[in-house]
Amino acid sequence: MTIRTFFPTAFLATVIAATVFGGARMSAQRPAFRPATMAPRSVLAFAADTAKLYTEAQATDGAEVWTKTCAGCHESKDVTSADFRTKWGGRALFELYTQIRTTMPDDAPGSLTPEQYTNAVAYILKLNGLPAGEIKLAADSVAMAGMKFEVPPPAAP
Ligand code: HEC
Repeated sequence: MTIRTFFPTAFLATVIAATVFGGARMSAQRPAFRPATMAPRSVLAFAADTAKLYTEAQATDGAEVWTKTCAGCHESKDVTSADFRTKWGGRALFELYTQIRTTMPDDAPGSLTPEQYTNAVAYILKLNGLPAGEIKLAADSVAMAGMKFEVPPPAAP
């Protein structure tokens, strides 16, 4: 009985999530929006099977960059909100890195070192609940192009 009702409910939740988070604005902007990334996975399962893309020390350095250079204009929710996750989730990490490196800080784009940008990205991963590991995230376009920004599904409203 439980099993019989679980799947339709999960399916409905997926459809609702895809509708809410994949609204017209986002689909228009990014036609490759994949509802599959919104599949109902528990946050626990998520943490267990998520690649560890950065080190804790690196996120700490990134937090310093954030405080000194980014926090004047941004609150951390700017990079953790459901909108942000919907926009960047499932995309290559290199896209996010490039976006930040080429446009931020808004008043002096490109003014930080590649390492500082990379550490800021590591901090953004941490803010989004992605697990730290043993291997540093490198400022390497090829490596980052092969890594996905796999954010947990946005919390239920
Ligand atoms: C002088 C103000 C300012 C500073 C400093 C600044 N930003 Fe921004 N940032 C903005 C504005 C304004 C936007 C939105 C417009 C845009 O995308 O250009 C933005 C957008 C972003 C986005 C895109 C958000 C999205 O929803 O896609 C990211 C990521 C970001 N900033 C990261 C950073 C990081 C990391 C730093 C520090 C290295 C930083 N910003 C420093 C003003 C700033």
